[in-house]
Amino acid sequence: MGKKIVITGGLGYIGTELCKIYSGYSWNDTITVIDNRFISERVHQLRKWNMNFVHGDILDKDLIKKHCADADIIHHLAGITDVPRVKSESSNEKDEKIKAVAEEGTQNIINVMSDNCKIIVPSTHVVYEGIEKVKNDISEDEETNPVLSYGKSKDYNEKQLKSSGKKYVILRLGSVYGYSTDTARIDIMSNFFSKMASQNGTLKLYAGGRQVKSLVPLIDVARCFKFMEERDDISNDLFNLTKDTVTVKEVAEICKKYNPNITLKETNDEVPNLGFSLSNEKLLKKGFKFKYGLEESIKEMIHKWSKQNLIKDLEYVKDGEKEFSDGRGKISNHELTEPINMIGLINSKKRNYTS
Ligand SMILES: NC(=O)c1ccc[n+]([C@@H]2O[C@H](COP(=O)([O-])OP(=O)(O)OC[C@H]3O[C@@H](n4cnc5c(N)ncnc54)[C@H](O)[C@@H]3O)[C@@H](O)[C@H]2O)c1
Repeated sequence: MGKKIVITGGLGYIGTELCKIYSGYSWNDTITVIDNRFISERVHQLRKWNMNFVHGDILDKDLIKKHCADADIIHHLAGITDVPRVKSESSNEKDEKIKAVAEEGTQNIINVMSDNCKIIVPSTHVVYEGIEKVKNDISEDEETNPVLSYGKSKDYNEKQLKSSGKKYVILRLGSVYGYSTDTARIDIMSNFFSKMASQNGTLKLYAGGRQVKSLVPLIDVARCFKFMEERDDISNDLFNLTKDTVTVKEVAEICKKYNPNITLKETNDEVPNLGFSLSNEKLLKKGFKFKYGLEESIKEMIHKWSKQNLIKDLEYVKDGEKEFSDGRGKISNHELTEPINMIGLINSKKRNYTS
């Protein structure tokens, strides 16, 4: 029998990629996505993948009870991510909302989930934002030092889960990067720089871009949530989920490599710290393998968002990308600039025709 899997925040940046992975499992497992946003195309896609979509809030106790009480796995991705990065951006109202969704929302789930259920929760490298000197390869047992509401509420979540008596896995994510569809987060540094590069813009490097960052590719993050779901032997544990250690300036330089027209401008604006990086040794020892990389992801984002050099010739044919061939011949899809934008060309062994 399949598993009952709940994904809170499943319409978000990470949730969208995780749902893509589960689209291969949703005919066997029962997948329920809970999100308080309603994004038409995303919801339609989930429905086509045979997944349930519940438009609701994790602060709604009855709703959470109804959908989480009998779950086998809960990927808990719901949370406020449009958050202040430095003290001057904070306000009491924002801070209260971030705290309530993180702390009460998570508690609502912990309260109703069964003892057999495993909850997999993203924490963040930001729990170390208070570190004053640059520190590299921080391990999981290093004491946290959050300052602002986001980091503090993630730190609270970690403690809340550890003392819950329930089965949990916490993944301390670096800053996530990579191309995605309509809920891609452009506010994240590598994605924002790639977007600016696609616009031939100027990249501002606060504190000269010296800040050290731990980054991690989006699809690997989603893969790691799936990995933790599958591994029954991993429970009640916390892992750093980071791949690249780079300075902000190094990220900007990769962008410049793929679009030399951009300008890099060093400024003295406020940064919360001079950076730090997290070690991923513990996770690698469990057998998890990363498959994506920073440079290829930046290149992809810049390419996809930049002006395309298209040929307007009516005769122009874009060669099919998903060719299919078997013993009978070859079928390939071609794109024309005319209103008919897709035709299939069938190269059969007997004759050639188009449809
Ligand atoms: N992306 C990163 O770099 C990163 C790094 C560390 C941790 N995280 C954590 O991972 C999780 C997912 O991040 P993301 O980048 O996909 O963010 P996101 O903002 O794209 O997705 C979060 C989703 O949660 C939903 N949501 C917010 N409040 C909700 C509520 N009260 N009830 C129901 N749904 C709610 C939002 O509508 C959104 O679809 C968050 O908890 C975030 O803090 C992300």
